[in-house]
Amino acid sequence: MSVRIAPSLLSADFARLADEVRDVQDAGADLLHLDVMDGHFVPNLTFGPPVVARLAPVVRIPMDAHLMVTNPDPLIRPLADAGVARIAVHVEACVHLHLTLSSIREAGMSPGVTLNPATPVNSLTDVLPWVDFVLVMSVDPGFGGQSFIPEALDKVRRVRDLVGPDLDISVDGGVDPDNAGLLVARGATTLIAGSSVFGRPDRGAAVAELRARARAGE
Ligand code: DX5
Ligand code: ZN
Repeated sequence: MSVRIAPSLLSADFARLADEVRDVQDAGADLLHLDVMDGHFVPNLTFGPPVVARLAPVVRIPMDAHLMVTNPDPLIRPLADAGVARIAVHVEACVHLHLTLSSIREAGMSPGVTLNPATPVNSLTDVLPWVDFVLVMSVDPGFGGQSFIPEALDKVRRVRDLVGPDLDISVDGGVDPDNAGLLVARGATTLIAGSSVFGRPDRGAAVAELRARARAGE
């Protein structure tokens, strides 16, 4: 599985979202990561289905929604209608996790489960039959530009040991050229990067550097 680079729109210029999307697409991004926050599950508010639907016509790569919300269920159908390809939800946000993951699948999208830095890897054990990917948080969710939590490296390795060779493991938070290869060497297959892509003026160079450093870990 070759590594995919997924820029996170959270670090884009929100006054120029469509241009920012085009810029990272031209830069060779593989997925567009969309951080949906409700100001309740995390202490920040971003955007929801109406903004995603308005952006969708300019998006040519799969949209990857990360729901940091207390109640994800009402968002599933609107995000599917907006063209989202996959949705990750947090273990702690879903009272009926199987039901939520099944709803994502039934809506035609790929379901994923997210582990916060303090969420144990073994919470995946009973969830694996229902997910297409695992999202490992390497920061506490809510904000871009935070420092990478180094224990995430070993966590990625433990998730890979548990899930086997085929499942996508995405990593989100503080991903940069310095840790990209280390993450991939431990089993990460999708690198989500906000500030290390949108924070640089040349997004093409940013994506290319991440990809090159990631491949060095393969
Ligand atoms: C954090 C979000 C991330 C964020 C990553 O809660 O889930 O997707 O955009 O931003 P960086 O790469 O700057 O840590
Ligand atoms: Zn995210």
